Amino acid sequence: MERTFAMLKPGVLQRRIVGEVLSRFERKGLKIVGLKLMQMDRSLVEAHYKEHVGKEFYEKLVSYTLSGPVVAMVLQGDGVIATVRRLVGPTDVTNAQPGTIRGDFAYQTRLNIVHASDSPASAEREINLFFKEQELIDWEDGNERWF
Ligand code: TYD
Ligand code: MG
Repeated sequence: MERTFAMLKPGVLQRRIVGEVLSRFERKGLKIVGLKLMQMDRSLVEAHYKEHVGKEFYEKLVSYTLSGPVVAMVLQGDGVIATVRRLVGPTDVTNAQPGTIRGDFAYQTRLNIVHASDSPASAEREINLFFKEQELIDWEDGNERWF
């Protein structure tokens, strides 16, 4: 079963819109199988964003990510990696259409509200970075029998 990792960045807590952003995933019908509030430390942020080391935005990205707690989650379902990226919208918020999370809530790319894994390999890596297997709950809602 496909899983992806998503993370609400510190600005979501600071702006008190955790519920609104989480509801974007829920109202689409996505299944949350892991969820926690956490204060990341520098080594976790560096591991999470290691592909961006040395880029001009890297230091500000790290310090922003450390500026408060985040909400980390794992979502599960067929095609969920691409579905979540579509709901989230593009990295550059000037291209993010209204109706996407970034299009509706973000005005600056650095403060683009939410992280989502971009491929099966990054989803697996990021889930393992943030969650232990026993923290993930593969529950059933009864809809599975229709597929
Ligand atoms: P990236 O992995 O390219 O985007 P995404 O979050 O859509 O997978 O970049 C990671 C984060 O780095 C991005 O969410 C916001 C920040 N960032 C900038 O601040 N400026 C930039 O020009 C880019 C590309 C990213
Ligand atoms: Mg990325």
